[in-house]
Amino acid sequence: MKLAFYIHIPYCSKRCGYCDFNTYTPSELKISSGLNEISNNYIDLVLKELELAKSKIQEPVHVSSIFFGGGTPSLMEPEDLGRVIRKIRTDFVLTDEVEITLEVNPDSVDKQKLQQFFDVGINRVSIGMQSAVSHVLKTLDRTHNPENISKVTNWANEVGFKEISVDLIYGTPGESKEDWQVSIDSALSLPISHISAYALIVEPGTKLAAQIKRGEVDQVDDDLTAEKYLMADQAFTNAGFNWYELSNWAKDGSRSKHNLSYWLGENWWGIGPGAHSHLNGERFWNVKHPSMYKEKIELNQLPIADSEILDSKQIESERLMLSIRLTSGIETKSLNEKQITDLSGYVESGHLNHSDWQQGRAILTLNGRLIADRIVREILL
Ligand SMILES: C[S@@+](CC[C@H](N)C(=O)[O-])C[C@H]1O[C@@H](n2cnc3c(N)ncnc32)[C@H](O)[C@@H]1O
Ligand code: SF4
Repeated sequence: MKLAFYIHIPYCSKRCGYCDFNTYTPSELKISSGLNEISNNYIDLVLKELELAKSKIQEPVHVSSIFFGGGTPSLMEPEDLGRVIRKIRTDFVLTDEVEITLEVNPDSVDKQKLQQFFDVGINRVSIGMQSAVSHVLKTLDRTHNPENISKVTNWANEVGFKEISVDLIYGTPGESKEDWQVSIDSALSLPISHISAYALIVEPGTKLAAQIKRGEVDQVDDDLTAEKYLMADQAFTNAGFNWYELSNWAKDGSRSKHNLSYWLGENWWGIGPGAHSHLNGERFWNVKHPSMYKEKIELNQLPIADSEILDSKQIESERLMLSIRLTSGIETKSLNEKQITDLSGYVESGHLNHSDWQQGRAILTLNGRLIADRIVREILL
């Protein structure tokens, strides 16, 4: 079986105002010791969960990617992430081309630490850039200084990383088109091979949502956000980064294998609190809080909170939702008559590519990408 491992590191030094990921700060956890101490103990639990996963899978596994995400995995000690990689290498088979990604918060590393991450086997970094404009970073409540981004990216390049991605966010209240262009240009001046650009989602319950509700920060302007998508696509494409998923652009040969595993509905196992897994049509997810996770692991139990077996209708809906977002699109012969009729309207309106449609594939045009969610909703009715 081919499998992708996601390793969740649920710790951050400080919570950014827009983020509702399952992550905890030392003050939320009431920990006075540093996060270095957490690193060692937490990774011991991760290694145990890997052992429990191995006993559940019970068939030969070829691991195509490992993704350390968070939270802020770059806060962990490199040697601890090395222990995870060695454990996976010992207990499973790593494919020759295995992609091992680390999400890097620019505040949490120096050149030496990046070198150590490289030396323990990480071969791809995904850097949380978000924006190159100070007032935008301030609204996002990010701690990093925009200058750190080029420093960290250049260090990553110098220590040997060939695959470097940056994450950008657009549509932050107060971000003008000029501001966004500065972020785009600044990302394109870096030695990178991949870009993820996400429209800001104002998640309920976050500090940002409260600020907007109180009128301290403006609402997101959806029309402006759509224009920013078009600006990004044009600039990225001109610079040789081609879109392969709605929010992701890559140079040739640099698409993220790990993310493609999610989008192609393959098998993945999420290790750590709150992490989700998908194995041969079964979906399960772990208990959310690190202390509950620890309790379960210490009892030698898989920390699974709940699970569901996907029925054929759910599998089909997920397949359509994910594949319409990809540059490979949907094979029309896999669609029913109503879906074909619905989608042919979008071919006529220019939202799906005409010649691809004639060759049997529904693939979004640039205008179609702007309304992908609407198109999917319609064919799922
Ligand atoms: C969990 S973060 C991990 C990276 C690292 N913790 C950092 O922030 O630098 C992964 C990415 O999700 C994106 N993200 C998180 N919350 C978001 C939101 N509310 N709207 C849009 N993108 C978001 C950000 O671009 C971020 O880089
Ligand atoms: S955006 Fe990244 S650094 Fe900020 S709170 Fe979320 S996970 Fe942590």
